[in-house]
Amino acid sequence: MERTLVMIKPDGVERNLIGKIISIFEENGLKVIALKKVRLSKKQAQAFYAVHKNKPFYDSLTDYISSGPLVAMVLEGEMAIQKVREIMGATDPKEAKEGTIRKLFGLDKEKNTVHGSDSLESAQKEISFFFSEFELISAE
Ligand code: CMP
Repeated sequence: MERTLVMIKPDGVERNLIGKIISIFEENGLKVIALKKVRLSKKQAQAFYAVHKNKPFYDSLTDYISSGPLVAMVLEGEMAIQKVREIMGATDPKEAKEGTIRKLFGLDKEKNTVHGSDSLESAQKEISFFFSEFELISAE
C-alpha cells in the first residue's frame, strides 16, 4: 500500500469539480485517508513548489496556486503514486489521454486542475506539508 498527496487546484475548486474529481479517484479504487480545503499564501505556494524555483513558470505558478482555495488530500492504494499520475494524465491537458482528469477538465499547462506527487520521496514531503502525523493517524 502506498500513499500520495493530491491537490485539486484553484481552477478545479472554482468550477465546482471537487466531487467529480474525488469520485474518479474513488472509482479507481483509491481511498481518501485525509482531506482539507485551504488557501495557501504566496510564501506557502513557493515552499510547496520549491523544486521548481529555477523554472521560468515558478512565479506565475505560485501566484496561481495561491489565488484561491484548493483541496489537499492523501490517497491510499496499491501503487497509488503511479496510479494517480495515470488517472490525472499528462501535465499539459492538450497531451493528456482521453478520459484522464486533465483531459476532461484541465484548462492549460498551468491550470491543469490537479496535482499528484511524482515519487515516494515527494509524496512523503508533500503529505507532511499539509497534514500532521496526528491527522493521518486519527483518520485510520
Ligand atoms: P504539477 O503536477 O502541480 O507540477 C508543477 C506544476 O507546474 C504543473 O503541475 C503545472 O501546473 C505547472 N507547470 C508545469 N509546466 C509548466 C509550464 N511550462 N508553464 C506553466 N506552468 C507549468
